Amino acid sequence: MAQEFPTLTNDLLLRAARGEQTERAPVWVMRQAGRYLPEFRKTRETHEFFEICRSPTLATEITMQPIRRYAGLLDAAIIFSDILVVPQAMGMEVIMNPGPHFTDPLNTPADIEKLPREVDVEKELGYVFEALTLTRKTLAGQVPLIGFTGAPWTLMMYMIEGGGSQTRQKSKTWLFKYPEVSKQLLARITDICVQYLIGQVNAGAQLLQVFDSNAGDLSPYDFSTFALPYLKRIADEVREGLKARQLPVVPLTLFAKGASPSLAASAGYDTIGLDWTLDPRDAAKLTDGIIDGRTITLQGNLDPVVLYGGREAIEREVKRMCNAFHSARGGACKAWIANLGHGITPGVDPEDMKFFLECVHKYSAVPSS
Ligand code: CP3
Repeated sequence: MAQEFPTLTNDLLLRAARGEQTERAPVWVMRQAGRYLPEFRKTRETHEFFEICRSPTLATEITMQPIRRYAGLLDAAIIFSDILVVPQAMGMEVIMNPGPHFTDPLNTPADIEKLPREVDVEKELGYVFEALTLTRKTLAGQVPLIGFTGAPWTLMMYMIEGGGSQTRQKSKTWLFKYPEVSKQLLARITDICVQYLIGQVNAGAQLLQVFDSNAGDLSPYDFSTFALPYLKRIADEVREGLKARQLPVVPLTLFAKGASPSLAASAGYDTIGLDWTLDPRDAAKLTDGIIDGRTITLQGNLDPVVLYGGREAIEREVKRMCNAFHSARGGACKAWIANLGHGITPGVDPEDMKFFLECVHKYSAVPSS
């Protein structure tokens, strides 16, 4: 049964995620709690990255930083954590230095035997659940709280590459050389993602996002073979598991960066995240009606670099984005969650981020006449 939490006063995000028309677009930003904020950098001076993730009070504090700074302008909080806590839960050591680094990545198929057969998600990731519960209480209903996980393919890529990689050569080689072992690994990651996401809703998450940030490294065929079946399993099994536990069946978002929108939409999520290489009008045509004839909500998709372009450019490009999403929905503000097309980067001036949010408020509303 769901826990009791303060009543939500701003449900714009949840309404847009359900495909509804809204008075303006809800807006949040990937990595909104991050290094562009001086208050985040201050906390990081004295606390290591994963120490913050593992401390419910610190994670809550960091999650709240952008909500406080941009009070009334942000329509969602996203729990402060990282996608790499899942490989950690599978027994892999990851350090942030400054990017992620695995001390002992998977090298050969035999290495997956070193991973535990069963992962006690409650035990290994209970600190994220505690952070969600504390954050949800601290938010006091101001805005909904987003939980997340990395997608199986993106996590597999990090577990094999051992960190960021330009070519993904090692991890993609597994797909071609050891397809069956790769599928076993993907299935094992999927099992954990499912339990992890259900646990997040139990702890207080009101919407869940799956980050398949490396989807664009796969051909459409490989995406259909090595990413899509597991993304579908996550959507189906999370919904079933939530029902079985009498928890709210929250909206699900898939951000499969670089994947074709029609393929991503076929995974069955309520919302599909778009990067800036996609025109919202094309994306709407490609996703509309793919699942049970319904409108799939779109999220995005301003190029994060626009935030370095100065006020004139920010205003101009937000207007352009709003026009594109409005015309994608026949002139209405409907089934759209405004965001950047990927995470906000460390050099952005927090005042420019504020201006971006103000512009979305101003231009995403469609006059009623
Ligand atoms: O969005 C938010 O504000 C919530 C927090 C969040 C972080 N990482 C915090 C973070 C979320 C949702 C993530 C997801 C994540 N982590 C992804 C998927 C989204 C994406 O950007 O594609 C990925 C691929 C990771 C793995 C990861 N974590 C990388 C590659 C890096 C280094 C590169 C970078 O952007 O710094 C991180 C570190 C990280 N995760 C930071 C933050 C705020 C910065 C590290 C620091 O504080 O030193």
